[in-house]
Amino acid sequence: MPGAVSLRILPNKGMMVMVETHRMFFHYQEFPFSVRTLFTGTLIVLGIGYLFAMLHIYNSHAGRDGKPGLSIEDIAIAYSGSKEATQLEGALMGPMSGMLPTNERGDLIGWVRRGLDRQEYETRIKPIIDDRCVACHDGSNPHIANLNGYDELAATAKLDTGMDIFTLVRVSHIHMFGITFIFFLMGLIFSHAYVRPVWFKSAVIAAPFVAIILDIGSWYLTKLHTAFAWVVILSGALLGLSFAFQWIVSMYQIWIFKYSAKRPPVREAPIV
Ligand code: HEC
Repeated sequence: MPGAVSLRILPNKGMMVMVETHRMFFHYQEFPFSVRTLFTGTLIVLGIGYLFAMLHIYNSHAGRDGKPGLSIEDIAIAYSGSKEATQLEGALMGPMSGMLPTNERGDLIGWVRRGLDRQEYETRIKPIIDDRCVACHDGSNPHIANLNGYDELAATAKLDTGMDIFTLVRVSHIHMFGITFIFFLMGLIFSHAYVRPVWFKSAVIAAPFVAIILDIGSWYLTKLHTAFAWVVILSGALLGLSFAFQWIVSMYQIWIFKYSAKRPPVREAPIV
């Protein structure tokens, strides 16, 4: 096929050789077994990591709106807060819901709604907190809210304003570095797959980078308007879709797909 090859002069040999235009493209099956093993191991561990990441997202956001399952309201509440529930209630309905039985959760929520009575705290609430929460929330870890005492607990029972900016900034930079590494590796492996048209292949590689910027940007924008929770969901879906596509195509082409490299034989001829 003309156009697929070009003539070049090799500087060290002074020879005219025919090389493919995309001479950086090698299909997996042109790589040695060891490199394909490396790719496969990387894909398997990244795939399992992705499943854990999704479990974590579900666990930390589902049920914030008081209904089971992950919904658009849960995302909106996580980032922008809730006009109805306090942070303590949000945690009790969502990520902390497994930490105590339903009747004790009812006691805690009732106490918050009745106005954080001090007497009731001493008699009914403190024992529950000591029993169920203080093991982790004793104030020794600066990243976990201190619930050990009336004032500390009451501080989490103010109206929820969502994840604060500093938490978002911390999580943003971790995500941006982490995700770039993951999708650089993924894209590098996937770039050796035979996928046409080339613009489509490139779009699949570019999608996660666009998605992560949209995703993280809309965490902040959700604070201004909860409609951006949709962008969080859609960009997360785009990220997942691109991951799944690259993973499946790469794995399939590494081991099953038969690629016939249509490389022209390298012909060497002295320059006259
Ligand atoms: C096994 C350890 C553990 C126990 C027990 C535990 N928590 Fe937590 N809690 C955490 C961790 C870790 C976080 C931080 C989670 C995060 O930021 O994603 C957290 C976060 C919270 C938050 C902040 C949530 C937010 O939206 O930022 C509240 C409020 C909370 N817990 C309340 C409680 C209450 C009330 C109990 C007892 C019924 C409890 N926790 C029991 C580990 C625990």
